[in-house]
Formats: sequence, structure tokens, C-alpha cells
Amino acid sequence: MKIWIGCDHAGYTRKQEVIALLQERGLETEDCGCQGECTDYPVIAKAVGAQVVSHPGDRGILICGTGIGMSIAANKIRGVRAALCADAFSTKYTRLHNDANIMCMGARTLDSGLALELVEIFLDTPFEGGRHEKRVQMIAQLEQKN
Ligand code: RB5
Repeated sequence: MKIWIGCDHAGYTRKQEVIALLQERGLETEDCGCQGECTDYPVIAKAVGAQVVSHPGDRGILICGTGIGMSIAANKIRGVRAALCADAFSTKYTRLHNDANIMCMGARTLDSGLALELVEIFLDTPFEGGRHEKRVQMIAQLEQKN
């Protein structure tokens, strides 16, 4: 599993902290930008989302001020299931039930300690499958039909 990570200017410092954690864990990681310059978040959401859908099994992490812009933009890409992660329970269950392949976080809404804890949960929690498989497939059908 490779991790594709990106941020806008608001998320840059937090992204560096997350990258350090990913490297500590020995995970292959690719930084899709930005490097701190003023950046429109949809550009980065598109870059990370495109890589995640082209490499099934990989995951993405997107960080902006609130995480909301990144999640709205990333979810426009077919095959992306991006979840705004702001607490441990939701982060765990978006993996278990939604098979989220991208987590979005707000650098201005979460402190560093919580953000890194959520990254660990997102990486370590498997998809439960079973009855949730059908529901995830229904999301894919929505993408095809709308
Ligand atoms: C940038 O100022 C801010 O709008 C962006 O980081 C994000 O919070 C948007 O959702």
C-alpha cells in the first residue's frame, strides 16, 4: 500500500508532520504538493485522487484548512471515497463501513496529536466487507448513473 499525500498552503505544516509519521512506519509515500505556496486545493485533490483510483489498494491523505474543500473536490473523481476525518470513531468506521480510500483533515481544526492519531487509525483499520460491500458498490453505481 502506497500513500499519496497532498495539501494546500493551509495544510503544509501538518502534511510535513504526517509524512514524518508515514516514513517512521516505513510506508512508501509520494508527496503530490504543494510545498507551502498559495495553492488552490482542487488541484491537489485531483492529483491525489487520480493516483489513488489508478492504484487500487493505495490510500490518499489530503489536508487543507478545514478538510472540507479537499473532500468535496476529491469526491468528484470517480472511484474516490474521501472521508472528512475529525474524530477517532468516524475515522475507524469510514474504513470499516465505507472503505474510504482517502482521508481528508483540517489543519486549522485538528491539533497535531489528534491528526496523527487519526492517520494511524485510517491506515490500520481494514474494510469490514460483508453487508457493506453492496453499499460501496451502490456508491459506484451512483457515479455511473449521475
Ligand atoms: C484556504 O484558505 C482554505 O479555504 C482551504 O484550506 C480549505 O479550508 C478549504 O476548504
